[in-house]
Amino acid sequence: MFEVKGIEARYGTIQVLKGIDLEVRKGEIVTLIGANGAGKTTLLSVISGILTPSKGEVIFEGENIVKIPPHKIVRRGICLIQEGREVLSQMTVLENLLMGGFSRPGEDLNDSLDTVFQMFPILQERQGQLGKTLSGGEQQMLALGRALMARPKLFMMDEPSLGLAPKLVNEVFAKIMELKTADVAILLVEQNARKAFQVADRGYVLEIGKIVLAGSGEELSSNEKVREAYLGGKRAKRQDLRK
Ligand SMILES: Nc1ncnc2c1ncn2[C@@H]1O[C@H](COP(=O)(O)OP(=O)(O)OP(=O)(O)O)[C@@H](O)[C@H]1O
Ligand SMILES: [Mg+2]
Repeated sequence: MFEVKGIEARYGTIQVLKGIDLEVRKGEIVTLIGANGAGKTTLLSVISGILTPSKGEVIFEGENIVKIPPHKIVRRGICLIQEGREVLSQMTVLENLLMGGFSRPGEDLNDSLDTVFQMFPILQERQGQLGKTLSGGEQQMLALGRALMARPKLFMMDEPSLGLAPKLVNEVFAKIMELKTADVAILLVEQNARKAFQVADRGYVLEIGKIVLAGSGEELSSNEKVREAYLGGKRAKRQDLRK
């Protein structure tokens, strides 16, 4: 359904992606993990049309979409929740959600709104509250809800657990599991490898612009190298400090 083939990308003279191959099928949650600066966000920028790659293809529903502008990519059903969430702070919860439906002009958004409120009852309760006054966890729920309003076929999330307390991280991951349906493909970028492997069907490990490992969530979480670099040791301790 969705495939990245030989993607290379650069900022000026610095090559950040060095030939990425990756695939997400309908009904799957696929995670991409990697250290700071590995190129995860850059890959999501390429897929969503924000950055043009120097080489390679992004195939979505049988078509190469690398030359298509971001707003048209959204309309085709690819949706990105960016790092840092970017909830519209001066708009209410309801207005934020309605903005999420902008790619479906003329369509009745009430059904989608009902679905979102069912999934996130807190958003219904707080629908008149300004985005900026929501807690971090609530903002993350709003970002997920807003993305759902676009009825995405490919749902990409950039570090949804970033900056959240452990309890909220669990809540967000539980919601991500709920998003999983037969029609939707989910690409989840995370530094929290432990959590990501719990929800993912498959995963890829990105190191300095290259995929160095791929496998099922189980395979990766029992892989010696992954355990050392992403699930234990110094790095995990550093991650814990960020929370
Ligand atoms: N707009 C830009 N201009 C120049 N260099 C950039 C730009 N954006 C990112 N980079 C560089 O590209 C590399 C990859 O960045 P990217 O944001 O893709 O990493 P990441 O894997 O998402 O890291 P993190 O986990 O910290 O979010 C980094 O070295 C970064 O400094
Ligand atoms: Mg990033």
